Amino acid sequence: RQEEGLRPQQLGEYIGQKALKEVLGIAIQAAQSRREPLDHLLLYGPPGLGKTTMALILAQEMGVACKITTAPAIERPRDIAGLLVNLKAGDVLFIDEIHRLSRVTEEILYPAMEDSRLDITIGKGQSARIRSIPLQPFTLVGATTRVGALASPLRDRFGLIQRLRFYEIDELTQIIVRTAAVLSTEITPAGAEEIARRARGTPRIANRLLKRVRDYVQVKASGPVSGEVAAEALELFNVDPCGLDWTDRRLLTMMIENFGGGPVGLDTMAAATGEDAQTIEEVYEPYLLQIGYLQRTPRGRVVTAAACRHLGYDVPDAFVNGI
Ligand code: ADE
Repeated sequence: RQEEGLRPQQLGEYIGQKALKEVLGIAIQAAQSRREPLDHLLLYGPPGLGKTTMALILAQEMGVACKITTAPAIERPRDIAGLLVNLKAGDVLFIDEIHRLSRVTEEILYPAMEDSRLDITIGKGQSARIRSIPLQPFTLVGATTRVGALASPLRDRFGLIQRLRFYEIDELTQIIVRTAAVLSTEITPAGAEEIARRARGTPRIANRLLKRVRDYVQVKASGPVSGEVAAEALELFNVDPCGLDWTDRRLLTMMIENFGGGPVGLDTMAAATGEDAQTIEEVYEPYLLQIGYLQRTPRGRVVTAAACRHLGYDVPDAFVNGI
């Protein structure tokens, strides 16, 4: 469904993440002039910021293939072994959610990453033998939302460890304009900016919102996507001017109404809203922290005065958390 066409193909087309592009541009050029594969790369950061896209671009720029998988799909030794033996020299193996690898898979990866060697155990108990099969040198690109959850022996085997950051409004605006062109949707600069403001710093969300607005325009309005139409459509879809959706607002409202603004522990937040704790931590919280609506303290999460104002609450002087 056009997803593939939306992804930029080259480093030069990739908007934003300036520091990351610089580091990777240098790594690519150096590796190419040495005729070596790229160093193993770990990309971390909130979901939707372009980690998979970047892996595909790296393979494209290096002129190699990219195999994409995700940790839960390679639980058994034979799953990862099958992928590794089929890689050609210099290929990129992209493993998403790499913090979720099973122990056995991790242990197969270590010699593969370090010495291009696949060690497989044949037989059991006393008669077990290890057989080593040479592999083509390859580049492992791992992606994770939780770099802290990675086993340190695994983390240490990546030559490059890079964080992806939330995007600025002007970067998201450019991405939306580009996507609109791919989708043959007419959009004004104000229309693109209105969507960008509500996209939580995240290209995946920006593109998703653009598609919803495009549907709205097709059915309810006409002409290009303007600022007003975009705002109207996104109100209808419950995305507020800061990009907060129903769940964000419910999390914050619950903290204000039931816990005096906090501190509230993650598990309590999960129980009180019925959301999964890990989803709160990895999907909702990073953006709320980024825009200063939430803070983390040793005793739990607290809502800030800015969040209270945004949600239309008076900011109590005696806010329990003192913020
Ligand atoms: N589409 C999604 N993310 C993008 C990015 N960072 N640059 C260009 N187009 C994109």
